[in-house]
Order: sequence, then structure tokens, then C-alpha cells
Amino acid sequence: MAILVTGGLGYIGSHTVVELLNNGFEVVIVDDLSHSEKFILKNIEEITGKKPVFYPFDLKRKELLTQVFDAHPIDGCINFAAYKAVGESQERPVDYYENNLFSLINILQEFKTRNISNFIFSSSCTVYGQADKMPIDEDTPLKMPESVYGKTKQMGEEILKDFAKAHKRKISLLRYFNPIGAHPSAKIGELPIGVPNNLVPYVMQTAAGVREKLNIWGNDYDTEDGTPIRDYIYVVDVAKAHVAALQKLMNDPSEEGVIDIYNLGTGKGSSVLEVVKAFEAANNVEIPYQICNRREGDITIAYANVDKAQKELNWKSETSLEESLRTVWEWQKYLNSRNF
Ligand code: WQD
Repeated sequence: MAILVTGGLGYIGSHTVVELLNNGFEVVIVDDLSHSEKFILKNIEEITGKKPVFYPFDLKRKELLTQVFDAHPIDGCINFAAYKAVGESQERPVDYYENNLFSLINILQEFKTRNISNFIFSSSCTVYGQADKMPIDEDTPLKMPESVYGKTKQMGEEILKDFAKAHKRKISLLRYFNPIGAHPSAKIGELPIGVPNNLVPYVMQTAAGVREKLNIWGNDYDTEDGTPIRDYIYVVDVAKAHVAALQKLMNDPSEEGVIDIYNLGTGKGSSVLEVVKAFEAANNVEIPYQICNRREGDITIAYANVDKAQKELNWKSETSLEESLRTVWEWQKYLNSRNF
């Protein structure tokens, strides 16, 4: 059983490839290396002792994708490949729609003609916008996301729902909250390109002296300490949820098509200042910061209701915020030790 993992050398993709290999799946990775690096492939092999097949090309190259399906008995796909920088997506909307949607559609064309099912989509809590009620559950009415990035995720979900209905296929939409951390081996982790957009990689680089200080984008929100609240979930727990979601689809005998939707979070909210303090406590380092104006498009609060995944996937996040942040620092020390 070969599973196609697009973006499989990326942050969440690489951690999921490790869990798939550890669970006996054959893995075929397609990654254009635009947001990842080849050494991650070698480190996946070191962690698992197994060698996934790897093709370095852009999924918009339809003819190359067809050759992969011709060469391997693909039984399912986990689709991570997408541009994901919220701010950049506002400056390059057409590139984001083209990349994130054309690559998805190219895979679905192959699934359609070859009668393949079991498609897992990397979605995001951003599809909820600022939800009215916490914790957020999967039935929460979706709002049009603020960012083009978020819109591509919501459109991707709609495309997949129509695909599942029209062709009676099985799909699972996994809505990530805020994945953080690195593999316990410290051989794979998040590789931000340029100045990190996200909080935890920026904190990591500030602790390492790569960044002078952390800018905290606003402390005048309607929260206890004035900084926004998110649901930070350990990346290996997110990866394990993908294997559980895939196994559920593959074991589902339904002939009528399946549309699973799950939140991947911890069910607990943490503020920006709480994350900073937890990182300092976990790693015995100090994070210099300054309070700045709000970042456009940020919402005040988002954390998940995770009952559905726990009940239907028998999965829940088991790693604390501090433990997740400890793995981040180990990963940064590994990166420092490599002579790139
Ligand atoms: C978290 C909080 C910032 C950086 C986005 C996408 C989501 C997913 C994860 C891709 C916010 C604050 C951040 C900094 C700060 N994307 N912050 N200083 O915006 O919740 O989610 O990234 O997988 O789909 O929407 O994550 O880490 O960018 O921000 O104060 O230097 O940290 O204002 O409150 P976000 P984030």
C-alpha cells in the first residue's frame, strides 16, 4: 500500500512520513523543495531506518505526476503541499490560488481516472475565522477567512467535498490549530525561510540570538493578559492523527463516499505571553520582547473542541506546551551544530 505524501519533506509532512513509515506504510513523496530541504529526507531515513521514494518536482507539472501514479500503486494521499504564509498570500493572491488549488486538482484528476480513494487534506482552523464560541467544534459555521491563504484552504475543502460526493470517494479534512515543536530525535523540525511569520519559530530564533527580540503584535486584546490566544499542538501528535485518519478511511467499507472533518488541537488555549514564559521555563533561556501594534488579520482567540477526533479516531494530543517547546530548542541546537 503506497501512500502519496505531497510536501512530504515539509514541516508537518516530514513528521507524518515518519509516523507512516513506523506504521508499515510504503511512502512516495513529491516535494518541489521550495519550502523544504533535501537533508530532511536523509534524516527521515535515519529516524525510521526506512527509505521513502522521493520525487523533486512541482505538483503543477501534471505530466510528471501522472508518471508517479503509473509507477506506484497509490492507495491514498496526504496532501500537505501548499504555500502557507498568511502575509505573503495577501501580496501574491494569484500565485497562492494557482499553487494551492491547481496542485490539489491535479491529484484529484489522477484519483478520479484511476478510481483511488482515501484522500487526507491539510486544512486549518483559519477556515473558522474568528469563531463566536469557544472551544470551536467542527460544526461551527465557517466564515470567509481574512487571508488568501485561508481562502485557499476553505476552497480546497469545498473541492474535496464535491469530489467525494460526485465520485463516492473517502476524504478526511484535518483542521490544524497551531502546530509547534520538533521530532524528539531533533533531526526534523520546522525550517522557516527568511524571517519567521509564526510565533514559535520566531521565539526559537530569538532565543538563539538570530533575532534581536520578539515583537509581540498587540497586548490590547480582550484576553486575560491582553495577548491573543491560540491552541498550540505538538507536531508529532498532529502527525499521529494523520495516520489514524488514514486508517479510518481505509477501513471504512462505505460505498457511498465519506467526508470526515476533524479539529487537530489540544483543546487548551495559551496566550502569546504564556508561550514566551513557557519557552523560557522549559529551556532556561530569556526571550527579550517588545509590545508592538496589532498584526492585520489576527483574531483574538481560537482553541479546539477535540472530542470528535478523540471519539472517532481514538486520538488525542498528549504532549504539554512546555515539552513541545523543549523539542523546539533541541532542534535549534541541532541546526546550529550543522555546518550548512
Ligand atoms: C500566533 C500568535 C500573533 C509572531 C497562522 C495561520 C494558520 C497556520 C498557523 C499554517 C498571534 C502572535 C506571531 C510574532 C507575535 N498556518 N505573534 N509575534 O496567526 O495563529 O496562525 O499560522 O499552517 O493557518 O493562520 O499563528 O504563529 O503566526 O501567530 O506576537 O513574531 O502569535 O499575533 O496572536 P496564527 P502565528
